[in-house]
Formats: sequence, C-alpha cells, structure tokens
Amino acid sequence: MEKRAYKERIIYQIYPLSFKDSNNDGYGDLKGIIQKLDYLKELGVGMIWLSPIYNSPMKDNGYDISDYYKINPLFGTMEDFDTLLEETKKRDIKIVMDLVVNHTSDQHPWFQEALKNKDSKYRDYYYFRKGNGKKPPNNWNSAFSGYCWEKVPNEDNMYYLHLFTKEQPDLNYHNEEVIKEVENILKFYLDKGVAGFRCDVISQIYKTSLENGKFSLFSRGREHYENQEGAFKILERFRREVLDKYDDVFLVGETSSLTPKIGQEFIDRRALDMFFEFDHAFCKSFKLVPIFKKPVYKAKLLFKPIFKWQKEVSWIGAYLENHDQLRSVSRFGDEKKFFKESAKALSLFLLSLKGTIFIYQGQEIGTLNYKNLTYEETDDCMAKNATETAMKMLHVSKRRAFKWVNDTVNRDHARAPFQWDDSINGGFNEGHQTWIKINDNYKNINVKNEVNDKNSILNFYKKMIHFRNHSDTLKYGSFEEIKSNSYVAKFLRRTNDETLLIVANLSNKQIKDKKLDETKEILVSNYDKHENKVLKPFEAIIYKIK
Ligand code: GLC
Repeated sequence: MEKRAYKERIIYQIYPLSFKDSNNDGYGDLKGIIQKLDYLKELGVGMIWLSPIYNSPMKDNGYDISDYYKINPLFGTMEDFDTLLEETKKRDIKIVMDLVVNHTSDQHPWFQEALKNKDSKYRDYYYFRKGNGKKPPNNWNSAFSGYCWEKVPNEDNMYYLHLFTKEQPDLNYHNEEVIKEVENILKFYLDKGVAGFRCDVISQIYKTSLENGKFSLFSRGREHYENQEGAFKILERFRREVLDKYDDVFLVGETSSLTPKIGQEFIDRRALDMFFEFDHAFCKSFKLVPIFKKPVYKAKLLFKPIFKWQKEVSWIGAYLENHDQLRSVSRFGDEKKFFKESAKALSLFLLSLKGTIFIYQGQEIGTLNYKNLTYEETDDCMAKNATETAMKMLHVSKRRAFKWVNDTVNRDHARAPFQWDDSINGGFNEGHQTWIKINDNYKNINVKNEVNDKNSILNFYKKMIHFRNHSDTLKYGSFEEIKSNSYVAKFLRRTNDETLLIVANLSNKQIKDKKLDETKEILVSNYDKHENKVLKPFEAIIYKIK
C-alpha cells in the first residue's frame, strides 16, 4: 500500500475555542495551542486538525465564516498562525485546516453585497429564490430544525437557502466563480504549508435541483443535494487543479447519507482520500423509544456499524469523538466503576482500527459529558434549536425538552474548556471567565494528575499511540472481523508478516472465553494481569498470533 502522511500519522482534533486560553479573555487561542505543542508531541500525534479559526461572527462557533483569509481576532493573527506552522514543523507535526464551504456566514461581504444589490454578481453566489405563493420555495428543512429558507429583508416574497442556521447561507456551486473562489482558498493555505483539509458537510455542496423533498422528519430534501454527481465532479476538479500540484496533501470529508458503495466511490475517484461516517455516532441517540427515555446501549451497537465500514471500504477516518458528539466514555464506557478501564478499552479499540485515527481533544484523559449543564448555560445553537423544536412539536416543557437534548445531542459536552490541571478553570486560563463553563470534575480529571500516574488513561493513550506509530500491521494491515457477540469485539489486522488479534470487551460484564489465549502472545493490554480464558469488564487486548 502506498505510504502517505495521512496513513502514517494519528490526527488530533483541536477545538481552538476550548483548548488553551493564553491571554485570559475566556477564549482559547493560537498562542495557547503553541504553548501546548510539546504536550502533543509527547502524546505522539503527527497531525493537528484545527476546527475553524477564520474570521467569523461565531453563530456556529466558526462554522460560519466571514473572511477565509483572516484569522478570527479571538484566536489571534495571521502572524500567530504562521508561528504555529513554524513551531509545528520544528516538531514534525502537520496542520490540517477545516474547510467550510457549503455555506458562508451571512456577514461575509459576498452575502452582504448580494443582499444590498440585486444586480451584484454575488447574488448568484447563493440561492435566492421567489417564494411559492405564501410558502418558501420548497419544503426542505434545515439540519438544525425548521425550514431552510429565510425571507430576504425588504424584498417581496424573496428567500435564501440555508441548510444550517439562517446565518449560514448556502453557496451555489452551479456558479463557476464560486468554485474558483474555493480553489483560491485551498491554494492560499496549501502555499502556507498545510497538509490537508477536513471538508465540512462536503457531501451536500451540490444541489442538483430545488424540487420538493420526499417526506422525512429530518433533512427533508436531502435526495436533491446529498452525494450528487456534481459534488464528485467539483472535488475531482479540486484534486486535479489544486491538490495534485502539492506534495502529499489530502482531503477528509464530513459526509452523510452515505452507503459504503458511495464512500468507496469518493475514494476511487480521488474526490476524497477518506471520509467520516456517522452510523456509529448515532447508534444510541436516535434509538429513542419512547423518545424521552434514556437510550439503552449495548456494545455491539457501537462496533457493528464501525465494522461494517471497516470491511466495506478501503480507507476511512476512524473516530469516536469530535466537537459535534457526546464524549465516548460517557456514551460507550462507564463513567464510574470502570472509568479508567473503559476509557482505555475504547482507546485500544479505536487505535487498532483500519484507516486514519482521529483523537478529539480531551479524549486522551477520559473527559466526560458535562451532566449538569442547563439550557441557559448552553451555547450550542443546535442544542437550543432542538430544544425549541421538541417543545413545539411534542408540547412539553422546556425543562423536559432540554433534558432529552442534553442526554442525546448537546454538542457543548465536547466543547467545555480543556482540563489541564486542578487550578482554577483547570489551567485553561488563570481564572478569568470562560466562554462556556468548565466541567466541574476538572479537579480529578486533568492532564497534570494523569501525567504523574503511570496507570492513567493518558499514559495508556501514549502507549497505544506509540504502539500504532511503530506497527505497520495496524497502519496498513487488512481488517477481518471474527465472531463478536453483544459485548466483545474481535477482529484481526493482518499483513504478510504478522497477524494481530484484537479482543475488546466493551461491557461491564466478566466474560469467559475458552478459546482465548490459545497460542497467542499478549502485546498490549489495559489490565495489569490477565486471567487465562477470562475477559474482565472492559478488558481489551492486542495479541500476536504465533
Ligand atoms: C459540521 C460541523 C458542525 C457545524 C455544521 C455546519 O457538521 O462539524 O459543527 O455546525 O457542519 O457547518
């Protein structure tokens, strides 16, 4: 298999707002990231994906960009970004940018100009359409609930399209100039030396038609804009015209409504190098019957969908957490009795999968959901919209609606400030107010405690990352599932030279397994001692088959 940086290196996602606040203004920043590069080097990661750092009014925390060529002053300056590039280079760490080009912010000068002047060329950068009688132009709804058409102020019966919030108008990829603008953005950052892009909601950029969508509660209309031939063609063009002119750069796509066949087509056509799937991320939250009960979870709900993708596509972005998801130990592990064991088992499981491994900031210390968040303390626009929609549709109180949202989709669980130490605000800053509250468990769960504890989750992550960095079998070997049950995931990673067997009990039950340990050598395990033919709760092992 061809050796590429994205296949060799583990990627660490930074959510800049919450990583490290160097100037005590309550928001994380680039200087803060620079201060922590040695920590990341020591952890063993080879690339950093930065969630958006561009100018933005922050209605969706930077996923609403008002200038692609400027750094958001909250995070610093272009000079700081250049310093970050230099400092990462010194440490042999590469930078991956977030490319958010399905939409811009409504404050972007293109959109502002389009609003002001109907004859401006920027009008056609977006979707402005006449309403259908008194109704919006079509029946699509937004991923963030409600219609995805907003009335244009001071114009009669005129709307614009936004698949996300109304402050995120969608760009029109039927317009050649829009495509050129994006090529220029790509070139600008590639010239600076970035290693690739994580392409936000990239499967939705091309709207083939604006006809009404089929009946569906969520994302109605998606058959007209998900994974369209037009999107493939545009990405192929980015590859040909831009990416191929640089050495060893890559694209990872955030995709949705995907089948393995379509996913593989993205790779085969070199439209993307890999993509994220969401089957496992939603394995729990949307299985709510009845809707207000806490979802029940069994380990195989997590690993079945992951294995499906592992088997059916040649490469993938493998992850358990990101800035849009709940914390993985809170969802799939055990926050109390087997906290450490479960966090380590998830680490071993993830870091043994095929594909490029993504670790989200804080995952490496076992950061948990922030259970006691209230509606008022929540910043996430999606959680707020979802609460209001649930109140209206189901006629329930705000408290009840928010409780459900908080248990299932509140993205702030993953966005609370990073827990560096046990000082005030967990060392995120020196005690000044923070943009959202820090999780109150920071006195126990923090980097400082874990660095000094040889049995910590952090030190286990380091060990697993080191193991993977030195294992061609984990990086390039094939993936084969072998008989798993509801609790235990089992799979092989194989090259011509070596076969590894990964066994991960992702449950709090002790499991007996007669065949375990036959002619195998333990290479890594999350328990100090292994008892023959028994898997303790959340015990996970990498064996070498002799
Ligand atoms: C992606 C981002 C998410 C954002 C949305 C709209 O899903 O990960 O944070 O809200 O796109 O840009």
